[in-house]
Amino acid sequence: MNIHFGADYYPEHWPEERWETDAGLMKEMGLKVVRLAEFSWHKMEPQEGVFDFEWLDRAVYLLEKYGIKVILGTPTAAPPAWLVNKYPEILPVDHMGNTHGFGGRHHDCQSNPGYRKLCSQIVTAMCEHFKDNANVIGWQIDNELGNSHDDFCNCPSCRRKFQEWLKNKYGTIEKLNEKWGTAFWSQDYNSFEEIFTPGLTAAGENPSQMLDWRCFHSDLIVDFAKAQADIIRTICPNHFITHNCMDFADTVNYYDLGKLLDFACQDQYPLGYWFENCKMSVYRAAACVDLVRSFKKEPVWIMEQEAGITGWGKMGRLPKPEELPEMTLQSIAHGADCVVFFRWRSCAFGTEQYWHGILPHSGIPGRNYAELKKMIEHMEPVMDELTGAMPKNDVAIEYSYRQQYALRSQPHNDYLNYQNQILKYYSSLYDKHIGVDFVGEKDPLEKYKLVIAPLKYVSYAEDAERFEKYVGNGGVLILTMRAGVKDEFNICNTSEPLPGIYRRLAGITISEYDSLGQVSLVVDDENSKSEENAVKATAALAKAGETAAKEKEISEKFSGKACVWADLIEADCGAVSLARYGEEFYKGTTVVSMNTYGKGKCIYVGCEPDSELMDSIIARALKEADVNVGFRSDEGVDICTRENENGIFTFVINTTCEQKHYFGVGGSLVYGEDDEEGILRPFCVHIYKKDRKHG
Ligand code: GAL
Repeated sequence: MNIHFGADYYPEHWPEERWETDAGLMKEMGLKVVRLAEFSWHKMEPQEGVFDFEWLDRAVYLLEKYGIKVILGTPTAAPPAWLVNKYPEILPVDHMGNTHGFGGRHHDCQSNPGYRKLCSQIVTAMCEHFKDNANVIGWQIDNELGNSHDDFCNCPSCRRKFQEWLKNKYGTIEKLNEKWGTAFWSQDYNSFEEIFTPGLTAAGENPSQMLDWRCFHSDLIVDFAKAQADIIRTICPNHFITHNCMDFADTVNYYDLGKLLDFACQDQYPLGYWFENCKMSVYRAAACVDLVRSFKKEPVWIMEQEAGITGWGKMGRLPKPEELPEMTLQSIAHGADCVVFFRWRSCAFGTEQYWHGILPHSGIPGRNYAELKKMIEHMEPVMDELTGAMPKNDVAIEYSYRQQYALRSQPHNDYLNYQNQILKYYSSLYDKHIGVDFVGEKDPLEKYKLVIAPLKYVSYAEDAERFEKYVGNGGVLILTMRAGVKDEFNICNTSEPLPGIYRRLAGITISEYDSLGQVSLVVDDENSKSEENAVKATAALAKAGETAAKEKEISEKFSGKACVWADLIEADCGAVSLARYGEEFYKGTTVVSMNTYGKGKCIYVGCEPDSELMDSIIARALKEADVNVGFRSDEGVDICTRENENGIFTFVINTTCEQKHYFGVGGSLVYGEDDEEGILRPFCVHIYKKDRKHG
């Protein structure tokens, strides 16, 4: 599909006389697709069963005249007032028992059969109406499923559905009682019908129940989406189906949701007003796209790419000159084949008055429009060649919803956080310009040289076998603190010492552990400087202008700090100690170990390493896995690669407002002004292409 840039457009917010001006400006800017109607339920069905698509037809035809294709959003994120008045039972009930009302969006219960029926009716009517419209190319199901559903619905319909889901999982109530450990605090049930949704309790909650509750909700939302996907596939078999994901948001398991979609989309707002200093860390921005790309292991679209100041009641920062193109190109670098900007024009009314678009409220094109237009003009030919290209990464990080769910209800201390842990490993690799894929718990691992599975807290028995096979065949695996603590039902493993089912692989025993929280312990191991442990790691260093890489030896010292958590490791089952604690009674006890298992290695990290310790662990793991560290740059430069049959494309992105340098990137420059090779002006991007035959 030769469509690479677009905008989220809300023609219903503007007088119809303006539409043609908009379409003309979009065309001039190089936009070729818009997403329409994902919140327009009332406009399309002003009363139950009375449909009006004429206004939308007019918009779709007008856009066609300007060569702009249309993606339709199903409007089920915004049930209209008539519907809520007529069927108030569809309103969601929070864990305190409060019913949430009309006036925002997603004021709905996704298990309610009546609501499901109304959703099917509007989706069917839209599909029937637009199935033969050649200008409509695809569908976005709902909008950011799971957003606004953080506090799960506890209504009677959800309670019934939860009971059914549990019955299906456990078969008998006896089994559920056993697996939930209901003997504790007399929580035994006589039948599935007795089970409550986990609302506000007088004290505490059952971790096994909470894990099931979160998995149930994810399944419920996927099922809600499936009902719509089934309708669209049947009536509009030639249209694609997608959904706009929210990177690390965890309400819905996106690996599961992804199975319904032709491709996944990400909503990318790097300058969100809610981030510290109104800016997401750049490695996180990269990780967000890498993650969504990993759900289907295919290039993604960005369905909402920031196009101006973000804001509802509060506002974020103004994108600096060239920052919007830079952020857009970072999304493309990490796997986007098409970028749709949110939104076309800043809206004059409603909750999102201050969520700025490409055009300001006045509708007069300004800097955002000019900068993005220029970028699109230069990128179009590159995008044509780039379509379908994927990174070829040697390193994968496991991202598991179950760990996230289990650790959400029992975080151990205020500083232990699953996603932060994932991102700590990611950022150390990112700084070394090592590309990362994320993998689910069932994904094949064979193609990776290094796999990192942080906080493998809740495990199926097969998880150990899967890792043993991977390492046995030569893979390098990093396991971390809290591996093997629980079984799949969130019950503590009692059959052997920690790390439980991973003990054989890790070659260690955790004799004791300490929940450090804010305390950190020095890792300054005398032994790590000894003959045995002062391992020399090598990293390839290529200098500007040099084609041949020079080898530089870096001395690997395991020093730094152990934070958040401390495992006291006995390297007693074959592992060697890589790093030891350097203070208090922990002094001399192992904090990082490595075991040879079959042809591979398992490194176990018994703490959350600070960045210094993390860097030495990652350097050692990369060396063990024989992963080449190729590119080098000043801090703040993102370098990554995508490849397909047309060639290998390397993106070099200055994510800062200062001039930066980089080394070791070859090929011919296909994007960006190369004033001086290896130098990037603020927010500038260079893209190089190498032909495959030249490698
Ligand atoms: C996204 C959402 C959009 C819009 C935008 C700005 O999360 O999908 O509909 O709300 O944020 O708030």
